[in-house]
Amino acid sequence: MRQDILDYLLAHQGEFVSGQKISEQFGISRTAVWKHIHVLKERGYVIESFTKKGYCLKEAPELLQPDEITNNLRTKVLGHKIFYYEKIDSTNNIAKKLANEQAPEGTIVISEEQTGGRGRLNRSYFSPFAKGLWFSLILRPDFSPVEISKMTLLAAVALTKAFHKMGLTSCAIKWPNDILVKGHKLVGILTELNASAEKINYLIMGIGINTDITRKNLPHELQRTTTSFAMEKVPVRRTELLQEVLVQLEQQYDLAKEAGFAPILEEWKTLSCTLGQDVEVSSVDTSFHGKAVDLDDNGNLIVYTEKGPQKVIAGDIHVRPCKA
Ligand code: BTN
Repeated sequence: MRQDILDYLLAHQGEFVSGQKISEQFGISRTAVWKHIHVLKERGYVIESFTKKGYCLKEAPELLQPDEITNNLRTKVLGHKIFYYEKIDSTNNIAKKLANEQAPEGTIVISEEQTGGRGRLNRSYFSPFAKGLWFSLILRPDFSPVEISKMTLLAAVALTKAFHKMGLTSCAIKWPNDILVKGHKLVGILTELNASAEKINYLIMGIGINTDITRKNLPHELQRTTTSFAMEKVPVRRTELLQEVLVQLEQQYDLAKEAGFAPILEEWKTLSCTLGQDVEVSSVDTSFHGKAVDLDDNGNLIVYTEKGPQKVIAGDIHVRPCKA
């Protein structure tokens, strides 16, 4: 129904259409019309409303077009096959299903909105309509499953390089894979693995990038911790950003296949805001603080504490202060 109302407004873009007329056209109450208009406004449609005149669609958000993404895409493999949705629960869920059905390496699943976006540590991930890039990439690397955590670091390096190229130069990586601007989160990465003991069957790299979110779009609990390209005053076209991200991801992925992860970990160190900082490490069963000094060859964080160096393998770390 909402799509019907939207199509009707699009057909009359720039003109006022009365609530009465819409309600008669679709056989619903004027209150129901008002509720649908309210949701469309939340999704970024600029709709003026006046009591006597009705509703006028002034501006529609620019939606992603798979054809436009693949046109002039400078990658060999990544992003050549795209599954596009306006709304799904989680792109990672769809990508897993497609990977189980033998979707080829490089396939991406992208949605304008996720209703059940998932983050690390079982958290939910805020992914509102057309306000970011919410996508999952299917990879089938010929690495040992123990290398998986380094793939997440690889993603963080590729994304940071892409953002620098798009003009957002003040972002940096918080171990292991958050990308922050002045301590505010811009990106989330969730890698999920399907593997046997010795072989990776597939890896789903789920990435969420806040592009057009503004402070007023954010739920209260995220307002102090989250940022976006728009909030950093670096406007981007999502199609161009996605193309650049795919190029950078492919470059880093090819490098890992040719030369291993060592050069990627070195680059990670130069792009990180964690090293050299006082950090507080908290995981399920321990918490301590110290200075983050290095990454080991497996991508674990080395933290100097009163008791000497400690290796941080997994957990949720708090960094203070973060200069990024
Ligand atoms: C995190 O910060 O905890 C990771 C968040 C990962 C979010 C992305 S958005 C696209 C993909 N689909 C999901 O459900 N999650 C990832």
